[in-house]
Amino acid sequence: MFKPARPYSKYYRHVIYCVPTFSNPSSRTMSIEHRKELVRIARKFDALILTDDVYDQLQWPASPQDPSENTLVKASYPRIVDIDIELDGGAERPGSDGFGNAMSNGSFSKICGPGVRVGWAEGTAKFAYGVSQTGSSCSGGAPSQLTSTYINHLLQHGTLQKHIHGTLQPAYSKRYLTLVNAVKEDLCPLGVKLPQSNRDVIGGYFIWLTLPDTVNADEFAQRCQEEANVVVAPGSIFEVPGDESVRFEHSLRLTFSWVELDEMVEGVRRMRGILESCLRGEGPRSGTIKRKELGTVK
Ligand SMILES: Cc1ncc(COP(=O)(O)O)c(C=O)c1O
Repeated sequence: MFKPARPYSKYYRHVIYCVPTFSNPSSRTMSIEHRKELVRIARKFDALILTDDVYDQLQWPASPQDPSENTLVKASYPRIVDIDIELDGGAERPGSDGFGNAMSNGSFSKICGPGVRVGWAEGTAKFAYGVSQTGSSCSGGAPSQLTSTYINHLLQHGTLQKHIHGTLQPAYSKRYLTLVNAVKEDLCPLGVKLPQSNRDVIGGYFIWLTLPDTVNADEFAQRCQEEANVVVAPGSIFEVPGDESVRFEHSLRLTFSWVELDEMVEGVRRMRGILESCLRGEGPRSGTIKRKELGTVK
Protein backbone atom coordinates (compact mmCIF):
# COMPACT_ATOMS: atom_id res chain seq x y z
CA MET A 1 0.00 0.00 0.00
CA PHE A 2 1.23 3.48 -0.88
CA LYS A 3 1.18 6.08 1.87
CA PRO A 4 -1.25 8.99 1.41
CA ALA A 5 0.04 11.73 -0.91
CA ARG A 6 2.10 14.38 0.84
CA PRO A 7 3.12 17.63 -0.82
CA TYR A 8 6.79 16.96 -0.06
CA SER A 9 6.89 13.42 -1.44
CA LYS A 10 7.09 12.14 -4.96
CA TYR A 11 6.99 8.73 -6.63
CA TYR A 12 9.10 8.46 -9.78
CA ARG A 13 8.21 5.83 -12.36
CA HIS A 14 11.81 4.61 -12.76
CA VAL A 15 15.19 4.76 -11.08
CA ILE A 16 18.43 4.86 -13.09
CA TYR A 17 21.57 4.09 -11.08
CA CYS A 18 25.05 4.95 -12.36
CA VAL A 19 28.60 5.85 -11.38
CA PRO A 20 29.35 8.52 -14.01
CA THR A 21 32.82 9.53 -12.79
CA PHE A 22 35.74 7.07 -12.40
CA SER A 23 33.36 4.17 -12.19
CA ASN A 24 34.14 1.08 -10.15
CA PRO A 25 35.56 -1.17 -11.62
CA SER A 26 36.13 0.24 -15.12
CA SER A 27 37.31 3.73 -14.02
CA ARG A 28 35.36 5.06 -17.02
CA THR A 29 33.85 8.55 -17.00
CA MET A 30 30.64 9.49 -18.80
CA SER A 31 30.96 12.35 -21.31
CA ILE A 32 29.08 15.61 -20.79
CA GLU A 33 26.95 14.89 -23.89
CA HIS A 34 25.85 11.55 -22.42
CA ARG A 35 25.12 13.16 -19.05
CA LYS A 36 22.84 15.71 -20.73
CA GLU A 37 21.20 13.01 -22.83
CA LEU A 38 20.51 10.94 -19.72
CA VAL A 39 18.90 13.92 -17.96
CA ARG A 40 16.65 14.50 -21.00
CA ILE A 41 15.67 10.80 -21.03
CA ALA A 42 14.95 10.84 -17.29
CA ARG A 43 12.71 13.90 -17.70
CA LYS A 44 10.86 12.28 -20.58
CA PHE A 45 10.19 9.01 -18.71
CA ASP A 46 9.69 10.40 -15.18
CA ALA A 47 12.85 8.73 -13.87
CA LEU A 48 15.16 9.61 -11.00
CA ILE A 49 18.86 9.32 -11.86
CA LEU A 50 20.73 8.29 -8.76
CA THR A 51 24.46 8.83 -9.18
CA ASP A 52 27.11 7.40 -6.90
CA ASP A 53 29.55 10.32 -7.02
CA VAL A 54 31.94 8.93 -4.44
CA TYR A 55 35.11 9.59 -6.47
CA ASP A 56 34.36 13.15 -7.66
CA GLN A 57 36.69 14.78 -5.13
CA LEU A 58 39.48 12.40 -6.03
CA GLN A 59 40.70 13.61 -9.40
CA TRP A 60 43.93 15.10 -10.76
CA PRO A 61 45.63 15.84 -14.10
CA ALA A 62 46.79 12.65 -15.82
CA SER A 63 50.27 13.93 -16.66
CA PRO A 64 51.33 16.62 -14.17
CA GLN A 65 54.27 18.62 -15.54
CA ASP A 66 55.49 19.29 -12.01
CA PRO A 67 54.46 17.95 -8.56
CA SER A 68 52.34 21.04 -7.76
CA GLU A 69 49.94 20.07 -10.58
CA ASN A 70 48.74 16.93 -8.88
CA THR A 71 45.56 18.39 -7.38
CA LEU A 72 42.30 19.56 -8.88
CA VAL A 73 40.02 21.79 -6.81
CA LYS A 74 37.29 21.96 -9.46
CA ALA A 75 35.99 18.70 -10.94
CA SER A 76 36.58 18.22 -14.65
CA TYR A 77 32.91 17.48 -15.48
CA PRO A 78 29.74 18.73 -13.80
CA ARG A 79 27.82 16.06 -11.95
CA ILE A 80 24.52 14.89 -13.42
CA VAL A 81 22.69 16.54 -10.50
CA ASP A 82 24.31 19.87 -11.49
CA ILE A 83 23.31 19.40 -15.12
CA ASP A 84 19.72 18.71 -14.07
CA ILE A 85 19.65 21.99 -12.15
CA GLU A 86 20.94 23.99 -15.17
CA LEU A 87 19.79 22.26 -18.35
CA ASP A 88 16.91 23.79 -20.36
CA GLY A 89 15.53 25.75 -17.38
CA GLY A 90 16.39 23.12 -14.76
CA ALA A 91 13.92 21.65 -12.29
CA GLU A 92 11.89 24.89 -12.23
CA ARG A 93 11.20 24.94 -15.99
CA PRO A 94 7.54 25.37 -16.97
CA GLY A 95 5.55 22.17 -16.52
CA SER A 96 7.93 20.48 -14.08
CA ASP A 97 7.13 19.80 -10.43
CA GLY A 98 10.39 21.15 -8.97
CA PHE A 99 11.69 17.85 -7.58
CA GLY A 100 14.22 17.40 -10.36
CA ASN A 101 15.27 14.16 -12.02
CA ALA A 102 18.70 13.58 -10.49
CA MET A 103 20.22 13.12 -7.08
CA SER A 104 23.84 12.67 -6.08
CA ASN A 105 25.20 10.34 -3.40
CA GLY A 106 28.44 11.28 -1.74
CA SER A 107 30.46 9.30 0.80
CA PHE A 108 33.04 10.34 3.37
CA SER A 109 34.37 6.78 3.22
CA LYS A 110 36.64 7.62 0.30
CA ILE A 111 37.81 11.05 1.43
CA CYS A 112 37.96 10.78 5.20
CA GLY A 113 38.08 7.16 6.35
CA PRO A 114 36.17 3.97 5.43
CA GLY A 115 34.98 3.43 8.99
CA VAL A 116 33.07 6.69 9.34
CA ARG A 117 29.96 5.29 7.62
CA VAL A 118 28.65 8.75 6.78
CA GLY A 119 27.57 10.11 3.43
CA TRP A 120 25.29 12.73 1.98
CA ALA A 121 22.56 13.07 -0.62
CA GLU A 122 22.11 16.10 -2.82
CA GLY A 123 19.27 17.23 -5.07
CA THR A 124 16.90 20.14 -5.56
CA ALA A 125 15.69 21.95 -2.41
CA LYS A 126 12.29 20.28 -2.81
CA PHE A 127 13.85 16.84 -3.20
CA ALA A 128 16.14 17.39 -0.19
CA TYR A 129 13.19 18.43 1.95
CA GLY A 130 11.32 15.28 0.89
CA VAL A 131 14.30 13.12 1.88
CA SER A 132 14.53 14.92 5.22
CA GLN A 133 10.92 13.94 5.96
CA THR A 134 11.40 10.18 5.47
CA GLY A 135 11.07 7.93 8.51
CA SER A 136 14.79 7.09 8.63
CA SER A 137 15.70 10.80 8.81
CA CYS A 138 12.80 12.04 10.96
CA SER A 139 12.58 9.23 13.39
CA GLY A 140 16.14 7.86 13.39
CA GLY A 141 17.85 11.24 13.09
CA ALA A 142 20.71 9.96 10.93
CA PRO A 143 22.44 6.60 10.46
CA SER A 144 25.49 7.72 12.44
CA GLN A 145 24.98 10.84 14.54
CA LEU A 146 28.28 10.73 16.37
CA THR A 147 30.54 10.41 13.34
CA SER A 148 28.40 12.97 11.47
CA THR A 149 29.29 15.40 14.24
CA TYR A 150 33.01 14.73 13.79
CA ILE A 151 32.73 15.14 10.02
CA ASN A 152 30.85 18.41 10.45
CA HIS A 153 33.69 19.67 12.63
CA LEU A 154 36.31 18.63 10.05
CA LEU A 155 34.39 20.40 7.29
CA GLN A 156 33.75 23.59 9.22
CA HIS A 157 37.42 23.94 10.06
CA GLY A 158 38.54 23.13 6.51
CA THR A 159 40.54 20.14 7.77
CA LEU A 160 38.91 17.68 5.41
CA GLN A 161 39.30 19.96 2.38
CA LYS A 162 43.00 20.34 3.25
CA HIS A 163 43.36 16.59 3.60
CA ILE A 164 41.79 15.97 0.18
CA HIS A 165 43.87 18.54 -1.70
CA GLY A 166 47.08 18.37 0.31
CA THR A 167 47.33 14.65 1.03
CA LEU A 168 44.94 12.41 -0.90
CA GLN A 169 45.09 13.89 -4.39
CA PRO A 170 48.91 14.23 -4.50
CA ALA A 171 49.42 10.74 -3.01
CA TYR A 172 46.90 9.08 -5.33
CA SER A 173 48.25 10.97 -8.34
CA LYS A 174 51.73 9.62 -7.59
CA ARG A 175 50.45 6.09 -7.00
CA TYR A 176 48.36 6.15 -10.16
CA LEU A 177 51.31 7.32 -12.28
CA THR A 178 53.62 4.75 -10.72
CA LEU A 179 51.19 1.92 -11.39
CA VAL A 180 50.36 3.01 -14.94
CA ASN A 181 54.03 3.48 -15.82
CA ALA A 182 54.86 0.03 -14.42
CA VAL A 183 52.03 -1.52 -16.45
CA LYS A 184 53.14 0.31 -19.60
CA GLU A 185 56.71 -0.82 -19.11
CA ASP A 186 56.19 -4.43 -18.00
CA LEU A 187 52.80 -5.56 -19.31
CA CYS A 188 51.90 -3.52 -22.39
CA PRO A 189 54.81 -4.96 -24.43
CA LEU A 190 53.20 -8.39 -23.79
CA GLY A 191 49.86 -7.28 -25.27
CA VAL A 192 48.09 -5.84 -22.22
CA LYS A 193 45.87 -2.83 -23.00
CA LEU A 194 44.95 0.12 -20.76
CA PRO A 195 41.69 1.36 -22.31
CA GLN A 196 41.29 4.44 -20.07
CA SER A 197 44.86 5.73 -20.05
CA ASN A 198 44.52 8.42 -22.74
CA ARG A 199 42.45 10.90 -20.73
CA ASP A 200 43.44 14.35 -19.44
CA VAL A 201 42.00 13.89 -15.98
CA ILE A 202 42.28 10.79 -13.85
CA GLY A 203 40.80 9.84 -10.52
CA GLY A 204 39.18 7.26 -8.31
CA TYR A 205 40.92 4.20 -6.97
CA PHE A 206 41.35 1.87 -9.93
CA ILE A 207 42.81 1.08 -13.30
CA TRP A 208 41.20 -1.41 -15.64
CA LEU A 209 43.26 -3.42 -18.06
CA THR A 210 42.71 -6.03 -20.74
CA LEU A 211 44.86 -9.12 -21.10
CA PRO A 212 45.74 -10.71 -24.46
CA ASP A 213 42.85 -12.79 -25.93
CA THR A 214 44.54 -16.10 -25.13
CA VAL A 215 44.76 -15.35 -21.39
CA ASN A 216 41.76 -15.91 -19.14
CA ALA A 217 41.60 -13.33 -16.33
CA ASP A 218 40.24 -15.75 -13.67
CA GLU A 219 43.11 -18.18 -14.20
CA PHE A 220 45.63 -15.36 -14.43
CA ALA A 221 44.40 -13.75 -11.17
CA GLN A 222 44.49 -17.11 -9.40
CA ARG A 223 48.06 -17.76 -10.55
CA CYS A 224 49.11 -14.22 -9.52
CA GLN A 225 47.77 -14.90 -6.04
CA GLU A 226 49.04 -18.44 -5.60
CA GLU A 227 52.41 -18.21 -7.34
CA ALA A 228 53.37 -14.56 -6.83
CA ASN A 229 51.35 -13.46 -3.78
CA VAL A 230 49.78 -10.60 -5.75
CA VAL A 231 46.04 -10.05 -5.39
CA VAL A 232 44.22 -8.61 -8.43
CA ALA A 233 40.50 -8.60 -9.23
CA PRO A 234 39.43 -10.54 -12.35
CA GLY A 235 36.66 -8.93 -14.42
CA SER A 236 34.28 -11.85 -13.86
CA ILE A 237 33.61 -10.79 -10.25
CA PHE A 238 31.99 -7.61 -11.60
CA GLU A 239 29.67 -9.39 -14.04
CA VAL A 240 25.96 -9.64 -13.34
CA PRO A 241 25.16 -13.35 -12.91
CA GLY A 242 22.91 -14.55 -15.72
CA ASP A 243 23.54 -11.51 -17.94
CA GLU A 244 25.54 -12.76 -20.90
CA SER A 245 25.56 -9.37 -22.63
CA VAL A 246 28.48 -8.00 -20.61
CA ARG A 247 31.46 -10.30 -20.09
CA PHE A 248 34.90 -9.37 -18.77
CA GLU A 249 36.80 -12.62 -19.20
CA HIS A 250 40.06 -10.92 -20.23
CA SER A 251 39.84 -7.89 -17.93
CA LEU A 252 41.43 -7.07 -14.58
CA ARG A 253 40.97 -4.31 -12.02
CA LEU A 254 44.05 -3.06 -10.19
CA THR A 255 43.76 -0.71 -7.26
CA PHE A 256 46.39 1.91 -6.47
CA SER A 257 44.89 3.76 -3.49
CA TRP A 258 46.28 1.63 -0.67
CA VAL A 259 49.45 0.00 -1.97
CA GLU A 260 52.88 1.61 -1.46
CA LEU A 261 54.81 2.72 -4.57
CA ASP A 262 57.58 0.10 -4.41
CA GLU A 263 55.08 -2.68 -3.75
CA MET A 264 53.10 -1.70 -6.84
CA VAL A 265 56.18 -1.79 -9.04
CA GLU A 266 57.19 -5.15 -7.58
CA GLY A 267 53.62 -6.48 -7.94
CA VAL A 268 53.49 -5.59 -11.63
CA ARG A 269 56.93 -7.14 -12.16
CA ARG A 270 55.63 -10.39 -10.66
CA MET A 271 52.51 -10.18 -12.82
CA ARG A 272 54.76 -9.96 -15.85
CA GLY A 273 56.42 -13.25 -14.86
CA ILE A 274 53.02 -14.96 -14.64
CA LEU A 275 51.86 -13.44 -17.92
CA GLU A 276 55.00 -14.61 -19.72
CA SER A 277 54.36 -18.11 -18.39
CA CYS A 278 50.70 -17.99 -19.58
CA LEU A 279 51.78 -16.77 -23.02
CA ARG A 280 54.24 -19.69 -23.27
CA GLY A 281 51.22 -21.94 -22.69
CA GLU A 282 52.46 -23.23 -19.33
CA GLY A 283 49.96 -24.32 -16.68
CA PRO A 284 49.93 -23.30 -12.99
CA ARG A 285 53.03 -24.17 -10.98
CA SER A 286 52.66 -26.38 -7.92
CA GLY A 287 54.26 -25.60 -4.55
CA THR A 288 52.54 -22.25 -4.33
CA ILE A 289 53.22 -19.42 -1.87
CA LYS A 290 50.43 -18.67 0.58
CA ARG A 291 48.81 -15.25 0.40
CA LYS A 292 49.46 -13.26 3.57
CA GLU A 293 47.18 -10.29 3.31
CA LEU A 294 44.84 -8.89 0.70
CA GLY A 295 46.52 -6.33 -1.53
CA THR A 296 50.10 -6.91 -0.40
CA VAL A 297 53.05 -8.24 -2.38
CA LYS A 298 55.39 -9.06 0.48
C1 LIG B 1 30.79 3.55 -6.64
C2 LIG B 1 30.84 3.20 -5.19
N1 LIG B 1 29.83 3.54 -4.38
C3 LIG B 1 29.86 3.26 -3.04
C4 LIG B 1 30.92 2.60 -2.48
C5 LIG B 1 30.90 2.32 -1.02
O1 LIG B 1 30.86 3.48 -0.27
P1 LIG B 1 30.71 3.39 1.34
O2 LIG B 1 31.99 2.85 1.86
O3 LIG B 1 30.41 4.77 1.77
O4 LIG B 1 29.58 2.44 1.60
C6 LIG B 1 31.99 2.21 -3.28
C7 LIG B 1 33.12 1.49 -2.67
O5 LIG B 1 33.84 0.74 -3.19
C8 LIG B 1 31.96 2.51 -4.66
O6 LIG B 1 32.97 2.16 -5.49
